Amino acid sequence: QTKYRKDYKPTNYLIKHVYLNFLLNEDTTRVISRLSMVPNYGTAGSPPSLELDGRKDIKLVTVKVAGKELQSSEYELTDKKLTLSRLPAGEFEVEIEVDIKPQENSSLEGLYKSGGNFCTQCEAEGFRGITYFLDRPDVMAKYTTRIEADAKSYPVLLSNGNLLEQGSLDGGRHFAVWEDPFVKPCYLFALVAGDLSVREDSFKTMSGRTVTLRIYTRAKDIDRVAWAMESLKRAMKWDEDTFGLEYDLDLFNIVAVDDFNMGAMENKSLNIFNSRLVIASPTTSTDMDYSRVEGVVGHEYFHNWTGNRVTCRDWFQLTLKEGLTVFRDQEFSADLNSRPVKRIDDVMRLRTAQFVEDAGSMAHPIRPDSYIKMDNFYTLTVYEKGAEIVRLYQTLLGKDGFRKGMDLYFQRHDGQAVTCEDFRNAMADANGQDLSAFEAWYKQAGTPHVKVAASYNAAARTYTIKASQHTPATPGQTEKGPVPIPLAVGLLGHDGSELPLTLQGDAAAEPSTTKVLLLTETEQEFVFTEVAEKPVPSLLRDFSAPVKLEVEGQAEDELVFLLAHDKDAFCRWEAGQRILRGLLTSLYTAASASKDTKLEECLSAAGGVPDKVVAAIGAVLSDKDLDGAFAAAAISLPAAAELIGTIPNIDPVLLHNVRQYVVHELAARLRPELEAAVKRNEAPAGASYVPGDSAQAAQRAIKNKALSYLSALKDAKVTADLLQRTRSATNMTDQISALACLVDSEGPERETALAEFYEQWKDDALVMLKWIALQAGSNLEGNLKNVEKLLSHPAFSITNPNACYSMFLGFLRSPVNFHAADGSGYKFMADSILKVDKINRQVAARMVSSSAFTAWKDYDVERQQMMKEQLARINAENGLSENVFEIVSKSLEA
Ligand code: ARG
Ligand code: ZN
Repeated sequence: QTKYRKDYKPTNYLIKHVYLNFLLNEDTTRVISRLSMVPNYGTAGSPPSLELDGRKDIKLVTVKVAGKELQSSEYELTDKKLTLSRLPAGEFEVEIEVDIKPQENSSLEGLYKSGGNFCTQCEAEGFRGITYFLDRPDVMAKYTTRIEADAKSYPVLLSNGNLLEQGSLDGGRHFAVWEDPFVKPCYLFALVAGDLSVREDSFKTMSGRTVTLRIYTRAKDIDRVAWAMESLKRAMKWDEDTFGLEYDLDLFNIVAVDDFNMGAMENKSLNIFNSRLVIASPTTSTDMDYSRVEGVVGHEYFHNWTGNRVTCRDWFQLTLKEGLTVFRDQEFSADLNSRPVKRIDDVMRLRTAQFVEDAGSMAHPIRPDSYIKMDNFYTLTVYEKGAEIVRLYQTLLGKDGFRKGMDLYFQRHDGQAVTCEDFRNAMADANGQDLSAFEAWYKQAGTPHVKVAASYNAAARTYTIKASQHTPATPGQTEKGPVPIPLAVGLLGHDGSELPLTLQGDAAAEPSTTKVLLLTETEQEFVFTEVAEKPVPSLLRDFSAPVKLEVEGQAEDELVFLLAHDKDAFCRWEAGQRILRGLLTSLYTAASASKDTKLEECLSAAGGVPDKVVAAIGAVLSDKDLDGAFAAAAISLPAAAELIGTIPNIDPVLLHNVRQYVVHELAARLRPELEAAVKRNEAPAGASYVPGDSAQAAQRAIKNKALSYLSALKDAKVTADLLQRTRSATNMTDQISALACLVDSEGPERETALAEFYEQWKDDALVMLKWIALQAGSNLEGNLKNVEKLLSHPAFSITNPNACYSMFLGFLRSPVNFHAADGSGYKFMADSILKVDKINRQVAARMVSSSAFTAWKDYDVERQQMMKEQLARINAENGLSENVFEIVSKSLEA
């Protein structure tokens, strides 16, 4: 059942027009489709058969070809296919009637019900759960959709495009007819029918058209959509200003639903969103929630051009639209907020999650070569690493060159389903450059390791950078070649000033303070001339490529210097992270070498946290001129995920304890500085929360970061203060971070705070998701018992994807309990995966792929053994979904 990229073949038939008629009911929903088929098999021979995709939960009622009903002997029907043969030559019409039961569709793929309303999710292959169809992105058609339903229960009837007609019918029913003038693949089809409230606004496009904007939610949520609406308008304006891209219809709808597998979906003119990415208010949403809403509303809107107007030829090309659209939403957020902080956040995410994926058993290139279930490839690699590869073009071609490439891409491919190569060719041709070497980034899985060794020649006044690259083997791909890597470099003088740079052999170029070196070979040398003093190098500025960088012989003093002086915010932050990663690694190594002595004694004997490190962190904390969000990131310890894989056979609980030791040391020795930072960044009394105000958010970020350090002291005064903060907070950012500080500590404050929070927010499902996640991820010893109890709490529902993500992905975040030495955490996770798989395979698959099960090789041998046992147990389950099977079997093979 594996599909291969190399097997791509166009279909024998295309579809010119799709007419759909939905008769929505409580028991059986009837779907009637009329497809105008067009031959696509050339002129030779008799018409080939037509293979339509389907799913076993759709029931075929009738099928007609050219107006004539077929007998069951005249077609072939299996669980997954409806095959029609002996077809007429030339164009003809196929009419199909099926019955489906959306109310029983717990997979949330295709047409399903959420909160009493009908909605759809068709990407990647959900449309085949609605009717038999050529369910692939290179089959593009115009759609007309008629929806009929009970008028009282489903007053709102929506689909893609323009409303053509609506009216009432006998028996309390009504109907609407929608027509989408743009061709699209079926994965962009959407339908919504329900009892929804609406907020309306409008946007005037650059050519002067007025677009009506509507956001629909259930009545209880409609007062919290202002931020999503604002974000939508900003996104529309940004795409005009940045890429000259204008919206192309008179109506744009967003619908929020509570049950949704992913974040959101870019269906043409009818985006459907997970409600957690639409609904926002200061008292119920954190600063991070606000920025996610902004980013995802932008992301789905930007898909209208990068995804919808120009789509993917086949699903292997997914990064064509997703990598590009993530890049676009990253730039959008960077332009509207702090660019450096946004970049650091994105890099953090890439390194803590995508690098792990790229090193695990599911490692795949951004353009995969094969899959069993496409849904398993909506990954950090395709999305986030894909966005980094798009960014490489911009780094090399400049913003203007990148824009030229985009213009040519739309000029050539508007209305088409294309490949990653088409995109690269547009970039290359628009700039008169040969970019064929970039193919390696699309073909090769794994994170390249770059090694840099630099030396200064005082007599010759030259500074030489030797760089080499190597990509480690990944499953099924042992041979790796070099990839083109732009390495942005700056050189700092002893006073922290930026030296003007001239590259040997590049005399024509203007001297500048950042140069982009392009590594194309396995080993290369670059020489800077006229370097007046021995500089401190600032390497991989702005994280100019998705690689792991090792700098030979880099002294800690140089890192301290960069943390204090580098003008490049990413490198400045990274200098601090390197110091802390080095510290955690050496302390962990000392601790694991002498497992029986008391941890604290052992760590302090190993040097503890050196004064130099404490001073460097203290300096960041006390620097009043620093952006608080940057400072918060700069004093954060690198995530465990950044170390796992770099230390062979790691004991994750020991690593956690080492981290806690460092946190405690820093808190104890910087207490006055931490308390001063809290005080300095406290919001003035009576100040109100202003959505999107980065300055306010930055103050909360550093204040709450400082509080979380202080909470490690387990000091009665601090704990009492935190409890007070959970009560008096005027916004969710402050409230939830105070609660988070208490959740890992024993003592009555924990229970009190959790109980009070529950009482305050029990009627708000979105806030309850946070309450669940915090408890599930707690590192209190033996917390599994609490998690098991929480499963039967009314705030949790196993059929709701968000609730599962909070509960189970939350639990995965606890090294102490997920990685418990007795294997109880692994067993619980495996049991939960099996239970969820019977309900929703996409959610179950995400539970496996987010777990350390796919990277079991990184852990100590006892844990390896226990993880493999659970993988084998899952693998042996009867009726396991293909989704979970693919990930589990690949993990066992790795
Ligand atoms: N295209 C959507 C987005 O990124 C995501 C769809 C996810 N679908 C899936 N089956 N995993 O905006
Ligand atoms: Zn997307």
